[in-house]
Amino acid sequence: MQVKVLMVCLGNICRSPLAEGILKSKVNPENVFVDSAGTSNYHIGSKPDPRSIEIAAKYNIDITDQRGRQFTQKDFDDFDLIFAMDNSNYFNIIQQARSEADRAKVHLILNKIAPDENMDVPDPYYGGATGFENVYKMLDKATDVIVRDISKL
Ligand code: 4NP
Repeated sequence: MQVKVLMVCLGNICRSPLAEGILKSKVNPENVFVDSAGTSNYHIGSKPDPRSIEIAAKYNIDITDQRGRQFTQKDFDDFDLIFAMDNSNYFNIIQQARSEADRAKVHLILNKIAPDENMDVPDPYYGGATGFENVYKMLDKATDVIVRDISKL
């Protein structure tokens, strides 16, 4: 069985492309399919933010081929697990859910490392480069737990 995982943020150019790239680097693509999307339509077709590309490259991960796309209700059909980067993204996705089964697929990604704390991956878009290093480290830890949990499915 291939598990399908979707990472979601607002723009799909900063946080979720990193989450996608980091998780992809840790799994066998035959077993785990990973994609990302944004709740907004701001950056459809765009490459990841250069600062996300740079921090990924620092850790030998190439995310340059990714292009922004918007989350749609079809993603509930196409994915098993949907990870929101922050509470705003989470509620936006939940509002689009058509059923309890849809809702059950949606999780806040940092609850993987801080259960029930409902922490946000801070939006680094308007911040400096240190914001991206911080985001990378959070996502690296969270994706370790995702890999471990998926291996138990
Ligand atoms: P992301 O960051 O949600 O991590 O991709 C953002 C990127 C762009 C904007 C906001 C957040 N924006 O407003 O354009």
